[in-house]
Amino acid sequence: MDNIQTIAVVGGGTMGAGIAQLAAKHGCTVHLIDIDQGMLDRAVDGITKRLDRSVEKGKTSQADRDVQLARIVTSTEITGLDNVQLAIEAVVENIDIKHKVFQSLQDATPDSAVLATNTSSLSVSSIAEAVSDPSRVIGMHFFNPAPVMPLVEVIAGQQSAEASVDLAFQAATAWGKVPVRAKDTPGFIVNRVARGYYLEALRLLGEGVAGVDEIDLVMRTHGAFRMGPFELMDLVGLDVNFAVSTSVWEQMDRHARFTPHDIQKSLVEQNHLGRKTGRGFYLYDGDTPIPAYPVERKSFQLSPLFSDAMLAFCVKAGATEATSTEQYVFSRILAAILNEAGSAYSASVASSDDIDTAMTKGTNYPRGPLAWADDIGHRTVRGVLNGLNASVEDERYEPAALFANAQ
Ligand SMILES: NC(=O)c1ccc[n+]([C@@H]2O[C@H](COP(=O)([O-])OP(=O)(O)OC[C@H]3O[C@@H](n4cnc5c(N)ncnc54)[C@H](O)[C@@H]3O)[C@@H](O)[C@H]2O)c1
Repeated sequence: MDNIQTIAVVGGGTMGAGIAQLAAKHGCTVHLIDIDQGMLDRAVDGITKRLDRSVEKGKTSQADRDVQLARIVTSTEITGLDNVQLAIEAVVENIDIKHKVFQSLQDATPDSAVLATNTSSLSVSSIAEAVSDPSRVIGMHFFNPAPVMPLVEVIAGQQSAEASVDLAFQAATAWGKVPVRAKDTPGFIVNRVARGYYLEALRLLGEGVAGVDEIDLVMRTHGAFRMGPFELMDLVGLDVNFAVSTSVWEQMDRHARFTPHDIQKSLVEQNHLGRKTGRGFYLYDGDTPIPAYPVERKSFQLSPLFSDAMLAFCVKAGATEATSTEQYVFSRILAAILNEAGSAYSASVASSDDIDTAMTKGTNYPRGPLAWADDIGHRTVRGVLNGLNASVEDERYEPAALFANAQ
């Protein structure tokens, strides 16, 4: 396959600008298109500033910076894309708008061009309905910031051609990324498996087991996660995180495992969206973030059966130094992640290697969850999940087939 030399990126917001910068860095001519000239100006301005910083740090030469910037051609129209081999759509998350963009891309590009969507939560197959040849359409899901985060989830829709998937892999690899392959299912890999981290932490907070800073500390200390769930939600934006939870929940037939949490909903309604508004689960008005969501502490009882399972789980997961409350927090959150990874694997969303790669490269998890579950032991994971499931009525901790069937 020839090298990819010319691409189009439609949408010049956060993701489109990042993808354009990435491709230009790796030698591609990029047609960056947005309906809003102001967004294009802002995108080019942002890319220029990032490249200037890179020159200052000695990572990029002035000549390289100039060449990379010159490779990005902006336009407010989806036209003149005769040489484009790959077009990546990164417009707002709205199926009607995406359909219109794909129709225009179909008219403006050669029939051989692959048309990719960067959607986080819509089905690739449903986006592909807009064009007459859906075999050209695939998902290329980048992570924010696109020039930095190594993962790209490549999603084959029902009718995507293998050649389209191959081209996406080729592009991602040429741009220094780590591509993984995921089935066209809600949340793909990362946005599905990561729900466990956020939603279980929110449940623990809501149940009054521990405060946001305590839960974050447990996951950093005993789980070696780089950021705790509340710090991470504040960084991502509570509105963005809540929208993904809601979308996955809706598409998963409102399964109790994915129910968005009322605490997060109320913070979004109050415009406490995290770092970007100066307040989320923490308050950001000094050097150190201060917890801004008070915990109403309540006592909790563990059944002897669950206590034993939790202890075995924590010993295998290396959290023996923790207090019993810390072990409870740690084992609930980690078991939720492992169960979701197991569920994605059992549903053939991706291979076990790709699930593990996605979670370490897309969200910086310290370990791949399926390798982690292997080390802990599937029966031990099942023991914790069964113990938790016995305490609820909605089956939200029902072990995934991978663990349920473990011998
Ligand atoms: N922000 C993230 O962290 C993230 C991560 C992965 C994927 N995504 C997905 O990437 C896509 C873009 O997200 P974003 O955060 O960059 O959004 P954004 O709001 O920053 O940018 C969207 C851009 O699309 C432009 N646009 C709207 N309609 C258009 C049209 N008809 N033609 C051309 N441009 C149009 C807007 O002017 C805007 O500049 C979404 O599908 C989102 O789900 C976002």
